[in-house]
Amino acid sequence: MSYRITNLRDYANEYHKSVTSPEKFWSEIAEQFDWKKKWDQVLNWDFETPQVNWFENAELNLTENIFERLLPTHKNKTAIIWEPNDPEADSIKLTYGELFKAICKFANAMKSQGVKKGDRVIIYMPMVPEAAIAMLACARIGAVHSVVFAGFSASALADRINDCEAKMVLTSDGNFRGNKNIPVKAVVDEALNHSDFVENVIVLKRTGEKVKMTPGRDLWWEEVLEGQSEQHEAEVMNAEDLLFILYTSGSTGKPKGVVHTTAGYMVFTYYSFLNVFQYDADDVYWCSADIGWITGHSYIVYGPLLAGATTLMFEGVPTYPHAGRFWEIVEKYKVNQFYTAPTAIRALQVYGTEPVEKFDLSSLKVIGSVGEPINEEAWHWYHEHVGKGNCPLVDTWWQTETGGIMISPLAGITPNKPAHASLPLPGVQPVIVDAEGNELTGNNVEGNLCIKYPWPSMIRTTYGDHQRCKDTYFSSYKGMYFTGDGVKRDHDGYLRILGRVDDVINVSGHRMGTAEVENAIDEHPDVVESAVVGYPHEIKGQGIYAFAICDASDKSDQILEDEIKQLVRKIIGPIAKPEHVQIVSGLPKTRSGKIMRRILRKVASRDLSNLGDISTLLNSEVVEDIIKGANLD
Ligand code: WTA
Repeated sequence: MSYRITNLRDYANEYHKSVTSPEKFWSEIAEQFDWKKKWDQVLNWDFETPQVNWFENAELNLTENIFERLLPTHKNKTAIIWEPNDPEADSIKLTYGELFKAICKFANAMKSQGVKKGDRVIIYMPMVPEAAIAMLACARIGAVHSVVFAGFSASALADRINDCEAKMVLTSDGNFRGNKNIPVKAVVDEALNHSDFVENVIVLKRTGEKVKMTPGRDLWWEEVLEGQSEQHEAEVMNAEDLLFILYTSGSTGKPKGVVHTTAGYMVFTYYSFLNVFQYDADDVYWCSADIGWITGHSYIVYGPLLAGATTLMFEGVPTYPHAGRFWEIVEKYKVNQFYTAPTAIRALQVYGTEPVEKFDLSSLKVIGSVGEPINEEAWHWYHEHVGKGNCPLVDTWWQTETGGIMISPLAGITPNKPAHASLPLPGVQPVIVDAEGNELTGNNVEGNLCIKYPWPSMIRTTYGDHQRCKDTYFSSYKGMYFTGDGVKRDHDGYLRILGRVDDVINVSGHRMGTAEVENAIDEHPDVVESAVVGYPHEIKGQGIYAFAICDASDKSDQILEDEIKQLVRKIIGPIAKPEHVQIVSGLPKTRSGKIMRRILRKVASRDLSNLGDISTLLNSEVVEDIIKGANLD
């Protein structure tokens, strides 16, 4: 039996069942997987602690559920299609059979270097098949992978390596992105100057760039693979054993390691992939995300492969060598489902429709969006010019912490409503709460988005700091998981996500904590204090705007602004570089000393209407200075 919903009534029935008998609902889906030992209890939970166990005491290996389970029918089916950065270079297709051998070989290679079940492995790599192979090889041997987006800086990488005490780093000699060649190995070398845990670095040859290899520590990928067997007996994992850690930004402090475990994540990514995208057996599915983000984990690698799909991986960027590259790829491989971010759509919209019309997109059946609220204009452009008005557009709301898609239309089943993530997937129980935590029932209500019941792929803890997980997600509203997003339920009962209600900025679909950027800015010797806010940005969704006090500096504002931008780039990475830095004489503060970000957001958005009452500020005189300095005309 396939657990694919086929019509709206089916959806309503399944949803009802998932809420009234969640354990029965999920155990029936789980039944079709291969278990070495069945669970004693489907769900054991308590949001106070918080503690959530799905499929308690069951044993399995996730990769056996991709390979051993599917090989009898999928051995010669293409699992991964890889399109390189350079359109003239050769692409690669790996069947399920070939991918399995590659994974076993790499699993054996990692083991021979001493990596054991439970060890953490950092993957800091380009978008190449080996990155997916590495993730799956980790899952095969029970090592916990933590993929770090290859655009993060050395210090951001070092923070992550140190936080999870990684034993091994997997990287490459370079990373082709558009017309750039990013020296990722040098970044790893620098990060390792600030880390004591890593024993080996395995380096894939990708660009042929000359790199420094540290004897005894650094090994070539090919070298470790030499002589390794193509067979590997999968490690036996408990349902709640860690599958991976993925670092993400929050409103306070350093990025936290979101922990996902084995069985629940497997069941939910499979189920959500199949239903949201309505994948058919011979379809070619493409998600353009990077493997360094949760979307790459759940909907390039795990969900599609567990469903036996053909998943496309693209190494490059949407505008290289031309603004029609995405559409050229859709034509080349006859892609049926295409999943991307609103920021990519807005960036391509700038080039007009000509690059889209040049290519044959008639293979497309479903188009999708993820990572940030999609504005109506981008929604319509995407729907009309890419989907030609007849592809359902799935606007999928979810988070690193949720592991999989939570609120989304099911393609072709849920009627589309522009910019609405629509309805929850079966098994997902969203609630809208007011500031006091009262549940707002009925339609036409707006408030904070919480989830009141566990779902299988939810966050289990923040690595090494369970209290932080509790404080961040389970303490704002008693007995519920708090998402950090605002939401509206419209007159039809459809949900529309309104964006973050905390101090998180969403830049091009990437989450940045304001505190994280402020900490980086404060490293500048002349900065006394800083405050960072988001403001609406035409392409990126939100841009980063920084205010900094540099009282005693003898440098010009221009020089300080440039230095601050470069510093953030160095400490976190290019994605965190502020669009604007404004040097100010003071920051607006309440009498208790809290920065009034509301006012700074207004200035950054160039919108001075409704500044509100500023007379209660400790230092209302700075507001005028800030407005003057912002050059609003
Ligand atoms: C935002 C990405 C509106 C939201 C999968 C969330 C969205 C954060 C949508 C998570 C959407 C994601 N509509 N907002 N369809 N999808 N978001 O962890 O603010 O990188 O909290 O996970 O992105 O970002 P993350």
